[in-house]
Amino acid sequence: MSSLAVPAPIDRVFRFYQTTVGKKAIMAVTGVVLFAFILGHLAGNLQVFEGQAKFDNYAIFLRSLPAALWSARIVLLVCVTLHIVTTVQLALLGKSARAVSYVKKDNAAASYASRTMYWSGPIVGAFIVYHLAQFTFLLTGPVMEGHPYDNVVLSFQQWPISVFYIIAMVLLGMHLSHGVWSMFQSLGITSPTRSPFIKSAARLIAIVITLGFLSIPIAVLAGFVTTSGAR
Ligand code: HEM
Repeated sequence: MSSLAVPAPIDRVFRFYQTTVGKKAIMAVTGVVLFAFILGHLAGNLQVFEGQAKFDNYAIFLRSLPAALWSARIVLLVCVTLHIVTTVQLALLGKSARAVSYVKKDNAAASYASRTMYWSGPIVGAFIVYHLAQFTFLLTGPVMEGHPYDNVVLSFQQWPISVFYIIAMVLLGMHLSHGVWSMFQSLGITSPTRSPFIKSAARLIAIVITLGFLSIPIAVLAGFVTTSGAR
């Protein structure tokens, strides 16, 4: 009865999602989208080193494209939700389901990775909620509408905020290090000969991204980046 009501392609997508491989594919695809956002966001944030005008103009430019901005936000929200839901579902499916999804994963690496992922993921999630409250919804901290550059600088001048960001960025780096590696595995582009190289590349990518984000609170705390004095 229900198969008559649901169009065949949607039914097939739904059935695929119900399999472990389908969930892994969703994890990988949403991971790629989130990873792309993080790269873009880092590139945008690093403009803080180019001064207040450049950084604020970037935020103004994003707001001048409301359709694109809101489309990106909706895609991001869907991806974050699916990423979390599939993580929980795969965790509930347990080790036996996980064993069929990765090609040749050694046990030591798997247990280290899963330990890291399961606590770094929720903490990064909590960080994002705080981060949105602070810089997007302007609900907390020394922030003011229309002053993104000063909002970032004045916030990071408060060392507890910077320390929280630094911890969250390090955890994000750990999460990305394994996440990028898992993404390559799930997409099936690893092999016994390529794996050591890909694993090192994933680690290097995560370190570069982490250092990029860390450079901002550290530069503010060290006094290299200061407010515009424009408010
Ligand atoms: C030093 C590190 C970071 C700084 C200085 C920073 C800065 C900002 C600022 C100023 C905004 C508001 C943009 C605007 O509304 O014009 C923002 C939004 C956002 N940030 Fe960050 N960010 C940092 C790290 C991160 C990280 C690591 C993530 C994710 C893991 C992240 C996720 C987001 C998201 C999802 C938004 C909302 C985007 C939107 O409203 O469309 N940020 N960030």
